[in-house]
Amino acid sequence: MTSPVLSLTDVTLTLDGNAGKVEILHGISLTVAAGETVGLVGPSGSGKSSLLMLMGGLERATGGVVKALGADLTPMTEDQLARFRRDNMGVVFQSFHLIPTMTALENVATPLELAGRRDAFGRAEEELTAVGLADRMHHYPGQLSGGEQQRVALARAAAPRPRILLADEPTGNLDEANGRAIMDLLFDLRDRHGATLIMVTHAPELAARCDRVIGLRDGRLDA
Ligand SMILES: Nc1ncnc2c1ncn2[C@@H]1O[C@H](COP(=O)(O)OP(=O)(O)OP(=O)(O)O)[C@@H](O)[C@H]1O
Ligand SMILES: [Mg+2]
Repeated sequence: MTSPVLSLTDVTLTLDGNAGKVEILHGISLTVAAGETVGLVGPSGSGKSSLLMLMGGLERATGGVVKALGADLTPMTEDQLARFRRDNMGVVFQSFHLIPTMTALENVATPLELAGRRDAFGRAEEELTAVGLADRMHHYPGQLSGGEQQRVALARAAAPRPRILLADEPTGNLDEANGRAIMDLLFDLRDRHGATLIMVTHAPELAARCDRVIGLRDGRLDA
């Protein structure tokens, strides 16, 4: 049996809100196997984005252990986490987090350059073409629609061919045709490159295509 790509053991997340500490996630344990596609579903506020951020080391667990590709993320410094993500993970944020002063092309090419990939701009062009944005490459995020920004964010996350892709509602802003094209692209990352996909989604069609669906409710796994 191969070791899991992701494993969470009794993970809790407590955040400081205005009214004091709020426990957002309560003792989550789960494992995800290599090449598995997992849909994360649950009501708004149930902790889906928080859980995804923990898996990517973008949020630190208050308790428990988060491991990715065998490495324990819990004791890593911010620099170590950033390097680990650069080498192994792609993240599509719910609100995209594109760099507003960079064009779509620059947004996608920059992580490739930072990772030392040759022909970062050529590759970025291919990725943007694959998400249907060949004619929008030189636009800034502020000049793009929500769905177009979402597709740039996906191209950026997918371009380095990460072993783990974490995507927060990757089709949330897309019409049916674009949503389906993006889904095909996501599953292609798994089929052709062996990526492990964890996707938050409210879309039944996307959840149905996943190998497994994990439900969250009030910060706990839904049985
Ligand atoms: N920085 C923060 N401080 C305090 N509470 C927070 C913080 N960030 C999120 N929360 C709370 O944590 C809970 C889980 O939030 P999260 O964003 O993970 O939900 P979600 O399942 O992704 O919801 P949605 O479907 O609306 O995106 C919510 O109740 C939210 O209000
Ligand atoms: Mg969310």
